[in-house]
Amino acid sequence: MNDAPSGTATKPAASPQAVSVNLTINGQRHSLTLDPRTTILDLLREQLDLTGTKKGCDQGQCGACTVLIEGRRVNSCLTFAVMHDGAEITTIEGLARGGTLHPLQQAFIDHDAFQCGYCTPGQICSAAGLLAEGRAKTAEEIRELMSGNICRCGAYTNIVAAIQQAMERGRP
Ligand code: FES
Ligand code: FES
Repeated sequence: MNDAPSGTATKPAASPQAVSVNLTINGQRHSLTLDPRTTILDLLREQLDLTGTKKGCDQGQCGACTVLIEGRRVNSCLTFAVMHDGAEITTIEGLARGGTLHPLQQAFIDHDAFQCGYCTPGQICSAAGLLAEGRAKTAEEIRELMSGNICRCGAYTNIVAAIQQAMERGRP
């Protein structure tokens, strides 16, 4: 007896063809063959084991997944890896140099600017992009330009103080 549904049953959509992508991540070249629907966030966390970048909302609303792509801060959950063939990406794992913390990482420690730490990698990557943009001069401007990065623990005051310290000590 055949129990298979007859008529108009929908077939699962076929997977799109894998595509080749070259990326330089934290200075290391990667030649990858990916499902074109792979986001940068999932590539980092699930395929390259770079789990410093966090998945919060997965919808572009919290900033936990912020990385630098060609030096600009980007919500990695919102962008597909195939859109960045040839790009340079920096994640939280790539900010320290030769065992020395990035000035922002040191400033976050100095100012006790994290509680659970979940938003911290995104905050620090976003702050690195902010400093490179050079648009923020005051605490108010830092707050405004960091508003895409949400901290549920409410460490904002210390985060702003940490970014101000790194800003005053010179752009990294
Ligand atoms: S996980 Fe990407 S913005 Fe929230
Ligand atoms: S330190 Fe907990 S969410 Fe920011």
